[in-house]
Amino acid sequence: MQGPTGPATSVATTSPVLRIGGVGKRFGTFTVLDDCSLDVAEGEIVTLLGPSGCGKTTLLRCIAGFWDADSGSITIDGQDMARVPVNRRPVGVVFQSYALFPHLTVARNVGYALRMQGVPRAEAARRVAAALETVSLTGFEDRYPAQLSGGQQQRVAIARVLVMEPRVLLLDEPFNALDAKLRGTMQVELRQLIKSLGLTSIFVTHDQEEALTMSDRIAVMRAGRIEQAAPPDEIFDRPATAYVADFIGSSNFWPSLVADGRVSLPDGQSVATGLRGAVRVMARPHNLQIAPPAAGPWQGRVAFQRSVGPLVEYHVETEGGDAMVKVVAMRRAQDRGFADGTAVSLRIVDPALCAVYPA
Ligand SMILES: Nc1ncnc2c1ncn2[C@@H]1O[C@H](COP(=O)(O)OP(=O)(O)O)[C@@H](O)[C@H]1O
Ligand SMILES: [Mg+2]
Repeated sequence: MQGPTGPATSVATTSPVLRIGGVGKRFGTFTVLDDCSLDVAEGEIVTLLGPSGCGKTTLLRCIAGFWDADSGSITIDGQDMARVPVNRRPVGVVFQSYALFPHLTVARNVGYALRMQGVPRAEAARRVAAALETVSLTGFEDRYPAQLSGGQQQRVAIARVLVMEPRVLLLDEPFNALDAKLRGTMQVELRQLIKSLGLTSIFVTHDQEEALTMSDRIAVMRAGRIEQAAPPDEIFDRPATAYVADFIGSSNFWPSLVADGRVSLPDGQSVATGLRGAVRVMARPHNLQIAPPAAGPWQGRVAFQRSVGPLVEYHVETEGGDAMVKVVAMRRAQDRGFADGTAVSLRIVDPALCAVYPA
């Protein structure tokens, strides 16, 4: 398989709920968003994933209407949002900090925007009760935020947005304040909740595992650009660029040269490519097999090994190679694996899963 194939962003077949078309944004002379295009289909959860400062929040703010884009367009259900003010956009935003009103009860926090909009009292009460039931907080109506756990506060923040029945839900790193264990639970819960409601959503995170858990598709961002938008497995198995391969999951890279449309791999196998000249080949650590020394071109020595739960991660120093090769294997109780210093041989399990990028 080969790295760069087709456009960086895939396009949904039915007409999208949210369409971001060539959006650009600068602050002074600094380009924060550069020609970002992304379609989000009905009921789809798309995650913006990228390192801090790559423009994720800025893109959300443009969708929500807190910022105006300098170029490009944003439409929801075919309607251009350019002239639609923040409070009229059919968008709900859950922020990184929950921003609950500390002096208001849970019910009043959730009903706040409905009161502002002059929704009749009885209808507001009904919608607040329904939203609280959705996030499993029935019975917590009269508590104050300080009397809730972090996870519960987070659910109030979500209920406060759901009560407005938004067409598009935007979530900006909503789990940042939670500890790792609770974060994992909340990810699964929130994904199931959003899917059961069928809400079209954009979720923002810098955490690759969170993105893999939450998303129907992941849009990987780099310095204001979307490098690849694809389902999690495709992003992981067929990263379009070396940057995406490096950002998601662990990877090994080797320099190589294309000869007759094929690239040689370090173990003597080869893989077809449409590229020419100097390239970089990428293999995931789980696509490598470690074995006792054997006849073959790829020999090495375990420099370091550690158990990571059910897996063993090996760092192997190879003969003639300067970079450390990472291998991941299932840890089986019956074998003791390969200790530090052990001589080993390496093999690529499936050459077709190696990606080839321009050097
Ligand atoms: N109001 C602003 N004025 C100037 N620069 C800004 C402003 N907001 C964000 N930036 C810059 O834009 C870049 C992207 O920021 P942001 O969208 O918050 O990134 P992310 O959410 O991916 O961490 C950063 O370099 C940030 O410093
Ligand atoms: Mg941000």
